[in-house]
Amino acid sequence: MTSTPMPPLPSPRPLRALRGEIVHFLGDPAELGARAIEQFTDGVLLVQDGRIAELGPAAELLARLPADLPIDDYRGHLILPGFIDTHTHYAQIDVVASYGEQLLTWLQKYTFPAEARFADPQHASAAAAFFCNELLRNGTTTACVFATVHSSSVDALFMAAQRRNMRLITGKVLMDRNCPPGLRDTAETGELESRQLIERWHGRDRLLYALTPRFPATSSDGQMRMAARLFAQHPGLHLQSHLAESRSEIDWVAALYPHARSYLDVFAQFGQLGPRSVFAHGIGIDDEDRARMAATGAALSFCPSSNLFLGSGLFDLERAGEAGIRVGIGTDIGAGTSVSMLRTLGDAYKVLQLQGQSLAPERAFYLATLGGARSLYLDDRVGSFAAGREADLTVLDTQATPLLARRIETCSTLAERLFALMTLGDDRCVRATHILGEPAWQR
Ligand code: GUN
Ligand code: ZN
Repeated sequence: MTSTPMPPLPSPRPLRALRGEIVHFLGDPAELGARAIEQFTDGVLLVQDGRIAELGPAAELLARLPADLPIDDYRGHLILPGFIDTHTHYAQIDVVASYGEQLLTWLQKYTFPAEARFADPQHASAAAAFFCNELLRNGTTTACVFATVHSSSVDALFMAAQRRNMRLITGKVLMDRNCPPGLRDTAETGELESRQLIERWHGRDRLLYALTPRFPATSSDGQMRMAARLFAQHPGLHLQSHLAESRSEIDWVAALYPHARSYLDVFAQFGQLGPRSVFAHGIGIDDEDRARMAATGAALSFCPSSNLFLGSGLFDLERAGEAGIRVGIGTDIGAGTSVSMLRTLGDAYKVLQLQGQSLAPERAFYLATLGGARSLYLDDRVGSFAAGREADLTVLDTQATPLLARRIETCSTLAERLFALMTLGDDRCVRATHILGEPAWQR
């Protein structure tokens, strides 16, 4: 995996201990089976200067720790790495639950007008603060986020994440055709503004920049080439876009790019595939596309809630896995209907059921944590409790609702409890979220 120097992180308390049932992943349960999971039913997690120092059985660690060290006591709760949302749109927070349309008409009728409001920096700032608070309230500590075409919308989100010490990826949307005039840039202004934002934000604190061509239908050839050029020039940048989501959108992209073999081939021809490129949806891809994604290291974001809500189609996780593609989970607000990764995992299960596939609960929580980190090439920093990782975590309460509490009583294994959580759980289950060890949200 990637290895980069680890700068010191801001953390008010040099040493912090948390106690509870600790669960995290050492690898993909689909490959490693039970060896993929590390669990301490009564465990202690030791955080030093914002990073994981050690974890193990409480009885063992407590005997060695200073007697006066305060301990965050979450006994009776599950402590997991913070969730990683690999695809969402902060500027669509007010679009959630917009009635009656499929992708292309939904974009025109609801989404573009909502994004146009982000020309106002005050509106963007307020939405960014709300959105980051929602992430934390839902146990999500890292997200890969679309801003809007407005540079100031990117500033607003980076500032909100920086204030909360979050690890977050975002970028200015690039779109220079087939969209309302107020939301249109050009290849030149798109390049200039992206460069300025990269200079201002990329690698600052925990923030990373993503080149963000919305989808090939709204970028000219020149803009697609420009995005690829910047992607190649700047080390460590991400590139995010949408891929083969719905039938009419796929047909439109095919008509706009008659020389491309497939939707994915458009990105390939412009040089946009590679490590740290992340594509939402990928419903209408074929095995040749899958092989190409795996070979180039490009990732898919599976957005089940969005795909159900817009009626886009069913994502084939089994085939993506067989091809060896990196896959994470995306809420895709506002086509997705919940910020909660628990609810999104519940939807993922149902989408796979419709195809005769079963999403094992261990695999689901792997995808929402370490799998997401791997798809974003951030697994050397977040996604697990391996020593040295940034101590972002979520504390889950399996007693949060009467029905969940009742169902949990009948569970005898961790897998059964995780499945009950992803089927019945939501934001109410998030007892606390810690960023770099520090509480960032508590119920
Ligand atoms: N394709 C292009 N833009 C979007 C968007 O904002 N949401 C979704 N779901 N698909 C898109
Ligand atoms: Zn999206």
